[in-house]
Amino acid sequence: MLSHITAARDAALASIASAATLDEVNDLTSRLTGKKGDLAQLKTRLGSLASIDDKKAAGQAINDAMAAVAAALESRRAALGSEALAARIERERLDLTEFVGAPKRGHAHLVTQAWERLEDTFVGMGFQIAEGPEVETDWHNFEALNMGDGHPARGEFDTLFVDHVPPGGVAGTTLLRTHTSPVQIRTMLTQEPPIYIVAPGRVFRRDTPDATHMPVFHQIEGLVVDRHITMADLAGTIEAFTKAFFGAGFTSRLRPSYFPFTEPSAEFDIQRPNGDWIELGGCGMVHPNVLRAGGLDPEEWSGFAFGFGIDRMAKERHGVDDIREMYSDDIRFAEQF
Ligand code: DAH
Repeated sequence: MLSHITAARDAALASIASAATLDEVNDLTSRLTGKKGDLAQLKTRLGSLASIDDKKAAGQAINDAMAAVAAALESRRAALGSEALAARIERERLDLTEFVGAPKRGHAHLVTQAWERLEDTFVGMGFQIAEGPEVETDWHNFEALNMGDGHPARGEFDTLFVDHVPPGGVAGTTLLRTHTSPVQIRTMLTQEPPIYIVAPGRVFRRDTPDATHMPVFHQIEGLVVDRHITMADLAGTIEAFTKAFFGAGFTSRLRPSYFPFTEPSAEFDIQRPNGDWIELGGCGMVHPNVLRAGGLDPEEWSGFAFGFGIDRMAKERHGVDDIREMYSDDIRFAEQF
C-alpha cells in the first residue's frame, strides 16, 4: 500500500512539474484531487488493510501525499501565472524611449510671423486690431466699397461665389472675400469715429497659383476716420510705418493710382537702402460714398485707408523666389528660416 501511495504521489508530482500552461494545471487539479484521483481511490481501499497501525500509517501517507500534490499544484500555478504575465508584458510592451536624434524646436509660419510683426508695429503706432468674416456679402465686399454692378472685380474671373442663399436674400450674393476692405465697412457700421484700425486676414481669388500668386493669401487693411484727416496724415503714417517695420534706412513714396473706394488714390512703394523701389500696396482718402455706406457723414468725417499683401512681404523679407514654396509643407524649406 505504501509503495502504491508513493508511486501515485510521484506520478502526480511529475505530471504537475511538466504542466506547461495554466489550463493544464487546472485539468490536473480536478484529475488529481477529485474523487477519481489515484490517491482518493487508494483512500477507499484503507478499509481492506489488516491492522489499525497499517491503516493509520497508510492514512497518514495518503494525507501527506495529497498535501504535497496540492502544494505542488499551487506553486506550479503561481509560477505559470507570473510567467504568463511576464510574457504578456513583453508582448504588449511599448518602447516610449525611442526617438531619432534630438528634438527640434519649430517656429511659426513665415506669414504668421509677418502678420504678428505687422500687428505689433501698428499697435505700437496706436491702431487697434479689427476683424471681419472670410465669407462675405456682395454688398460689403463690392457695393459698399463703391464698386457697383459691372465693376470688373465683381466678375467670375476673380471671385469665388458660395453656394448659399441668405435668408430672404438673393442667390449668388455670398462670396469668399476678395480683399480685407469690407472690414472698413463693418468697422464704420459698428464703431463710432475716431477709428484707427488695422485688419489682417485671409482673402480668396480665383487665381491659378504661380510664383507670385496664390488663390488664398493674406492682406492687412488700415482705416482711419476722424475729423480733418488729410492726405498728409496718410503719407506720414505710411512713412512712419515703413521706418518702424523695415528699419530707419527705408523710406516710402506715394504714386497716383485708382481704386473705386478711395479718392484720391495712390500706390505706395518703399525704397530699400540699396535704392531699389518695391511696390507694397494701395491707399487713398476714403471715398465719400464709402463713408456714407458706413453710416458716416462725409461733411463731418474724413479718413484714409490702405491695404497690402502679407504673403508678398514675407516673401520679400526672406528672399523666397516662389510664393508656392511657403505653402509646400516641406520641412527642408521651413527649416531654413
Ligand atoms: N483692396 C485692395 C486690393 O485688394 C487694396 C487696397 C487699395 C486697399 C487701396 C485699400 C486702399 O484700403 O485704400 O487690391
